[in-house]
Amino acid sequence: MLKITTFKKSVAELPAKYCRLVLTEEASSVHRFVETADGLTEYRMGAGKKEEVDARAFRTLVRSIVQAAKGHQIEALAIDLSSLSFPKLNDYKEGWLHSTLVENLHLANYEFTTFKTKKESKKKLNEVTLLGNLSKEAEAGLKRGQMVGDYINQARDIANTPGSHMTPTALGNAAKGLFKGLKVTTTVLGEKEIKKLKMGALLAVGQGTKSETKFIIAEYWGAGKPTSKVTTDKEPIILIGKGVTYDTGGLNVKPSGSMHDMHLDMSGGSSVLAALAIAAKLGLKKNIVALVPSAENAISDDAMRAGDIVTSMSGKTVEVLHTDAEGRMILADALTYSERYNPKVIIDVATLTGAALVALGQHASAIMTKDNELSQTLMKLGEESGDLIWPLPLWDEYKSSLKSHRADVSNIATNFSRFGGSIEGGAFLSHFAPKDVPWVHIDMAPRMDSIPSDKLAKGATGEPIRLLVAYLEQA
Ligand code: BES
Ligand code: ZN
Ligand code: ZN
Repeated sequence: MLKITTFKKSVAELPAKYCRLVLTEEASSVHRFVETADGLTEYRMGAGKKEEVDARAFRTLVRSIVQAAKGHQIEALAIDLSSLSFPKLNDYKEGWLHSTLVENLHLANYEFTTFKTKKESKKKLNEVTLLGNLSKEAEAGLKRGQMVGDYINQARDIANTPGSHMTPTALGNAAKGLFKGLKVTTTVLGEKEIKKLKMGALLAVGQGTKSETKFIIAEYWGAGKPTSKVTTDKEPIILIGKGVTYDTGGLNVKPSGSMHDMHLDMSGGSSVLAALAIAAKLGLKKNIVALVPSAENAISDDAMRAGDIVTSMSGKTVEVLHTDAEGRMILADALTYSERYNPKVIIDVATLTGAALVALGQHASAIMTKDNELSQTLMKLGEESGDLIWPLPLWDEYKSSLKSHRADVSNIATNFSRFGGSIEGGAFLSHFAPKDVPWVHIDMAPRMDSIPSDKLAKGATGEPIRLLVAYLEQA
């Protein structure tokens, strides 16, 4: 892990092992090394006009610094904090800048190396030292960024792990690993218990494989457990994450080219687990519960068939018109399960539809909710945290396409139309979301895999953990 240190003496006393970063107002493409008169190395990097740097540009800048350091095999870098003052960022709290800085240093430095047997000969960026005096808020921001970056990278490790290794059982164990040392209770239910709960939709998705289906429950009672059945302000926020550890598509098998990265289909699950871990580590005085239904959507003679009808935990029957629309089925049972907590608010996160990529490209996750206030809050926090989101409607009109003539609801449009595919996923879930509870569905499929402009390692992005944490902090 990248070591972040602070250096409070004058720049002149900085040991020679550090390469000093100097930001200029040149275009971001202008980078060069300069040997200074005192024999030290400076790396000059264009950051554009200071007054134009907003939150998005700042995050990209920080990631570019790491990318450049890696490219030039700089092992130790010194960043002068006073060079990071940008007028457009003055509206944010002081700690925000420092947290965002450190968070993005970690995110950009991450690489998934678990399965590399040879160490790369290239030198790695090991340490970043921050020059300058820090206020209390700034110190706290650094600490926060360090911790958030670390947990997000752990979540990326979990998500990047192949489906052969990251089975539902392994995901349950990984959850326990994330929560080590934290006041979080983790329960991992197996198939016997899931059957008892009558989660027929979750079981159907996982019935085609020897990998046992699991239901992961992680509870954090930072405000104290609610004691009575009477509504108090202690009702928990529920985070639900899709935990499909591999999605072949089932009997409606995915074409080649669309399947190989489906080990990432549990990214919603790893994200909500990491967000809960961060909330616990921050010691938030909130009650939060993460639920991760986890199954492998496999192909075998035991697999669910297109045309099967299953009974969900809610009692509603689901006609499985398409075995690749499995995420919504496992989430349906998790939504029903969440009712027992009398939730204050529910946020589900899922790599639910390829259609979300068609709608938004790969720069933002789609959100769907009927709660405008919640939508506005999350949009604002998305900009602030860097996990960008954009709304799609969740109108009842869209429910009509799911009217099955054989069961209560079908899992895709009965006319097999692919129009509005993401909204269709949200509309399906709305049949199962507890009534009168603010609920938002985040389809993170667009952000499952990184793209070059993210300046992150290939694979899991770790989104939308920053957004979830920002929400939990202010909730
Ligand atoms: N896990 C996929 C969605 C996905 C696709 C995520 C691409 C990330 C990138 C999901 O289970 C799925 O296959 N959805 C289907 C739904 C369809 C059958 C209605 C899809 O998107 O094609
Ligand atoms: Zn699928
Ligand atoms: Zn899936």
